[in-house]
Amino acid sequence: MGKMRTQSAPWRAAAVLASVLLVGGVAACGNSDTGGGGTKDDGKITMGFSQVGAESGWRTANTISIKEAATAAGIELKFDDAQQKQENQIKAIRNYIQQKVDVIAFSPVVESGWDTVLKEAKDANIPVILTDRSVDSADKSLYKTFLGSDFVKEGKLAGEWLVEQKKTASGPVNIVELQGSTGAAPANDRKKGFAEAIAANPNLKVIASQTGDFTRAGGKQVMEQFLKANPKIDVLFAHNDDMGLGALEAITAAGKVPGKDITIITIDAVKDGMQALADGKFNFIAECSPLLGPQLMDLAKKVKAGEEVPARIETQETTFTTEQAKEALPNRKY
Ligand code: AHR
Repeated sequence: MGKMRTQSAPWRAAAVLASVLLVGGVAACGNSDTGGGGTKDDGKITMGFSQVGAESGWRTANTISIKEAATAAGIELKFDDAQQKQENQIKAIRNYIQQKVDVIAFSPVVESGWDTVLKEAKDANIPVILTDRSVDSADKSLYKTFLGSDFVKEGKLAGEWLVEQKKTASGPVNIVELQGSTGAAPANDRKKGFAEAIAANPNLKVIASQTGDFTRAGGKQVMEQFLKANPKIDVLFAHNDDMGLGALEAITAAGKVPGKDITIITIDAVKDGMQALADGKFNFIAECSPLLGPQLMDLAKKVKAGEEVPARIETQETTFTTEQAKEALPNRKY
């Protein structure tokens, strides 16, 4: 006891330093539970974002939305374009883990094969937000939330419109389908939703279905093949506007009138698609909104603060006919 009371000055200083380090260590452990693997404490959130690529007008609008929203929210954004390759996305995510960003967000190019890298992020205590597209991981604890569209619903809306249009058809209606990138959630889900809806009328038959990789060039090239191989095509269902726009060139070059000889249904409703719809070259579009940036930044702030967020946040969307496209076009932002 006496010894303790008479501790020398250097010993007292060492004891104070030890207790400061101990308290600091406990506090650091506590903070790490609130999400965010970052070590800096300047209050600024750093987000590492891995984008699919720049394959479509939709993607360009989505990238702009994310970059603008990050600036507006005061979030430091590290952005990587994966050029439609999963290996590039995995590399980017690993870089973000090494850099100890606060939040990782990404739009997965394909649905499968993410468990290992998502587990690495979880082990590093960095929360992950999925945006636009989801993954098929059974372990839902690998990500905090998924913000994006219901792609099955979009395919269904496209198919239901066609069922209604063709309800008096007495013979077969031949449909060709331009699928999105192989293995991507919107390609899988839109195909599924459309098939479910057109099953209501046995006259409606998908006679050819192939990927156009969500690009204009892909849409044009595959449509050329469809036209060569199939003398009677009544309907084109394209999983996005860009492939539909590429297909327009192939259809015109084949001497057919798009929107009349071939009914064209697409998904997205970007400006160029809406223009084609207003001009009568497309016949119907199911909307898919790319303006996810502001909601994503909000979620990042909540997740970083350790707040609970819903596991699924669905984007609100609509559909457009030619008349509706004419009305909406002047105010269309993307
Ligand atoms: O994931 C959204 C889809 O990806 C859009 O419909 C398409 O245009 C984009 O490339």
